Amino acid sequence: MIYRERIASYVKSYKSGYSLEQPFYTESDFFEAEWKSIFKTSWLYAGSIAQIPKAGDYFLYHLRHDSVIVIRGSQDKVHAHYNTCRHRGSAICLEESGHATRLVCPYHLWVYDTDGALLKARMMPDDFPKEQFGLRPVHVRVVEGLIFISLASEAPDFSTIERSLTPYLKPYHLPQAKLAACKNYTLQANWKLVAENFRECYHCGGAHPEYCNAVAGANLIENVDELTATKQKVWSEKGLETKLVEVTEGTTTYAVRYPLRPGVESYSVDGRKISIPMGQHTDHDAGVVGLVNYPNFWMDAVSDYVWTMRVTPIDAATTHVQFCWLVDGKAEEGKDFELERLTKFWEVTGEQDARLCENNYLGIKSSAYAPGPYAPVEDQVVNFVDWCVEKLKAGL
Ligand code: FES
Ligand SMILES: [Fe+2]
Repeated sequence: MIYRERIASYVKSYKSGYSLEQPFYTESDFFEAEWKSIFKTSWLYAGSIAQIPKAGDYFLYHLRHDSVIVIRGSQDKVHAHYNTCRHRGSAICLEESGHATRLVCPYHLWVYDTDGALLKARMMPDDFPKEQFGLRPVHVRVVEGLIFISLASEAPDFSTIERSLTPYLKPYHLPQAKLAACKNYTLQANWKLVAENFRECYHCGGAHPEYCNAVAGANLIENVDELTATKQKVWSEKGLETKLVEVTEGTTTYAVRYPLRPGVESYSVDGRKISIPMGQHTDHDAGVVGLVNYPNFWMDAVSDYVWTMRVTPIDAATTHVQFCWLVDGKAEEGKDFELERLTKFWEVTGEQDARLCENNYLGIKSSAYAPGPYAPVEDQVVNFVDWCVEKLKAGL
């Protein structure tokens, strides 16, 4: 109770436009409160259909004490279950990803269907009501090949997220896309710092030479209004979505399309294309589609590949980050793309960002830290931090 009052008083004195007070980033009670009010009430990006291309393919998503099995069942339906057996609770799937037409608990061999139904419970009485012991379900929604789950008891609204993401995702044909790579990182930083870092480009000019070489105006110095207007006209004529979606009260999605530098074909270190155009794209001129869904999903897509980022807090001081790269379903490694070239751009940029986030956290832990003012170009960070504080407030 005392902790609750302490959090409530910090929430009350939060000043929008300034970074958060230290305890929001460092104290475990604040982290617990965020877990309950943000991560247990929201839609969380889990992964993509391309990670489970065949019926029976699954991967695990670890959310603190919970492990969630995301599995492709019959008729391509995606299911999500808590990875805990209904007999005595053993974890069922032990590998991070794999293939299983039936989920068999390794302890006493109870057998579950991919949809979670308990099929066999050895040596239990004849009248044992198997139908009451299916795996505990996790809410799951799939939008254009991207899988979102929710640990909330009642599924939150998904229609607004779906409406915002669909027009931007559709041209990529993600349900048929190919997973080229996933890489995992563990950062010594509070999860919000990772989120904040990816909501502004104030740092780009100083930190990201490769990114600034690729993206028009990323240094925030050059005026790219004219280029953007010209490109938007071209994109609209091709039927590509250009309407900016911003996070407003009650919504969680941000979506935008912006231009690469003239002559740059992809997110690549040398500016040249990486692979064949994805889905319905016929050239390398679709610019960049930037998508965000609070609290844990980021995606940047160019004409020839999609990069996703999933942010998962471990504790107040540690954050897991997963990058995945998707290419067109017909693209072949070695022929249409080189894996090293594909992943290079975001490995380099991600490494730069990881250091910035960790440095940020080091400084925030100082006894001399005090909230500082965000710059006008950091308005999206303010939007995110306001959202977090509002969620915390609602959860208290
Ligand atoms: S704990 Fe799973 S079968 Fe016993
Ligand atoms: Fe960055």
